Amino acid sequence: MVEKYIKRHSFLARFTHGTAAVCCVILVISGIFVFIPAANNWAGPEFTIAMRWVHRIAAIPFILVPLYAFFFSLKGAKHLFFHNIFGKWDKDDYEFAAKFLPYLFAPSKVHMPPQREVKSMQRVADGILLFAGIFIALSGIVLWLNTGLLPGGKWAVHFSNETMLVAKIVHDISFLVFIVFGLGHVYLGGGIFQPYRGTARLMFGDGKVSEADAAYHWGYWANVKIATGEGVSEEQKGNNDPVLIKEAIDGVKANKR
Ligand code: HEM
Repeated sequence: MVEKYIKRHSFLARFTHGTAAVCCVILVISGIFVFIPAANNWAGPEFTIAMRWVHRIAAIPFILVPLYAFFFSLKGAKHLFFHNIFGKWDKDDYEFAAKFLPYLFAPSKVHMPPQREVKSMQRVADGILLFAGIFIALSGIVLWLNTGLLPGGKWAVHFSNETMLVAKIVHDISFLVFIVFGLGHVYLGGGIFQPYRGTARLMFGDGKVSEADAAYHWGYWANVKIATGEGVSEEQKGNNDPVLIKEAIDGVKANKR
């Protein structure tokens, strides 16, 4: 059977997202030993020092890879921030937000309005997650610099006590926000909850969504993509050579000329 698929996330977006997800897991685990005295008392000083360095090293790709993606694809970054995260809400966006909780518990009984590229509540959650990540990174850089960029306190930049206190509070509060929204994001994005089954493929697979799933979740976006053929491919099970619809249409047009 031939099925239509729509490209949703580029390789760069998936690579950046995957790096952030893996780094987050390492940062949370190592952070337990950096910030909770009971955990480092239990693990001992050597393990704690090792975890402090794991925490710092995992922070490097967590910061640099999204920064690289931002500057490498300014168009994509602009689209993410201005079209999606800060995009203006319409009537359907408000209706989706109002019905979200009942939908979460009884998806088959609640009829949701069609959505644009990213659902209204998902835009809020993604935005909070992104900004919490930015604040964690900025405050973390201050905390790291103060103790020295290299082992033995080398390459240190010393900040005032007030700055250090603010950096610690920002790091802790952003972490709490990050965990709350991160867990919700993983629960929905991981596809554990029925209407979202299979969505993990969008970020951890080939970045494509089937026409039927796209129409169900993001009706307006799917209609535009299907009508223009942009990023749409026709695939047959067992055949690894997808037919790209836009290229096929352009090819037919070129042959007619
Ligand atoms: C294992 C953990 C994670 C899973 C399973 C997951 C899953 C997903 C999925 C499936 C999407 C695509 C949603 C869509 O196409 O509508 C997505 C998008 C996104 N995720 Fe995650 N995610 C995880 C971790 C993270 C982390 C740690 C961050 C933040 C640092 C994050 C930030 C984002 C953002 C900002 C988007 C929107 C990207 C865009 O629209 O281009 N995710 N996630």
